[in-house]
Amino acid sequence: MHDILVLYYSRQGSTAALARHVCHGVESVPGMRAKLRTVPPVSATVEAPAPAVPDSGPPYATQEDLAQCAGLVLGSPTRFGNMAAPLKYFLDGTSALWLSGALVGKPAGVFTSTQTMHGGQESTLLTMMLPLLHHGMVLVGLPFSEAALGTTQAGGTPYGASHVAGASGRAELADTERELARALGARVAALAARLCRDD
Ligand SMILES: Cc1cc2nc3c(=O)[nH]c(=O)nc-3n(C[C@H](O)[C@H](O)[C@H](O)COP(=O)(O)O)c2cc1C
Repeated sequence: MHDILVLYYSRQGSTAALARHVCHGVESVPGMRAKLRTVPPVSATVEAPAPAVPDSGPPYATQEDLAQCAGLVLGSPTRFGNMAAPLKYFLDGTSALWLSGALVGKPAGVFTSTQTMHGGQESTLLTMMLPLLHHGMVLVGLPFSEAALGTTQAGGTPYGASHVAGASGRAELADTERELARALGARVAALAARLCRDD
C-alpha cells in the first residue's frame, strides 16, 4: 500500500468535510491509502504549544508524513484570498525536505473552502500551489471531463476542489462539491500509483 497524505487545516469544519471526500477518492484507487492529517493552530502573539495529539480529529502531520507519502492533497480555508496561517506555518518548516528533494516528482492537489462564491477560491488554490512547485511536486487539477465541473452551482474549479460554506460557515457540501473532492483524491492517487509502478 502507498499513502497519499491528505493534509488540511480547518477551524469550522468545512475544509475537514472536503478532506474526508478527498480521502474516499484516494481509497477508490487500488493499492492507495489515504493518510488524513491536520496542523495545529498558530497564535499571532506567541508560539503556542500544541498538545502532542489534538483533542479530536486526525493527528497532527509530521515532516516524516510528508517524506514518506506517495502524493499529497493539501486543504485550507481561504483567508483573505490565501491559505490560512497554520498551514503556511507548517509548510515554512519544511526546508529540510526541500534541501533533500524529498517531495520532488510526487503528485499533489489542493482544495479550499470559502464563505462566499467569489471570495477568492481560485487565488487561494493557485497560491497554495506555489510552495508545492518549489518542492518539485507535480500538480494535479480537475479537468472538464469531470462532468460536475461544468454543472456545479457551488464550488469546484479546474485548479482544485472547493466548497462555498455560506454566511453561517456551515453549509453542507453540495453533491458536485463532494464529487469533485473525490475526483481530486482519485486523480492524485491514480497518478501516484502509476509513478510508484514505474519506479
Ligand atoms: C481571517 C479570515 C479571513 C477570511 N477570508 C475569507 C475570504 O477572503 N473569502 C471568503 O469567501 N471567506 C473568507 N473567510 C471565511 C472562510 O474562508 C470560510 O468560513 C471557510 O469555509 C472556513 O473553513 P473551515 O470551516 O474549514 O474553517 C475568512 C475567514 C477568516 C477567519
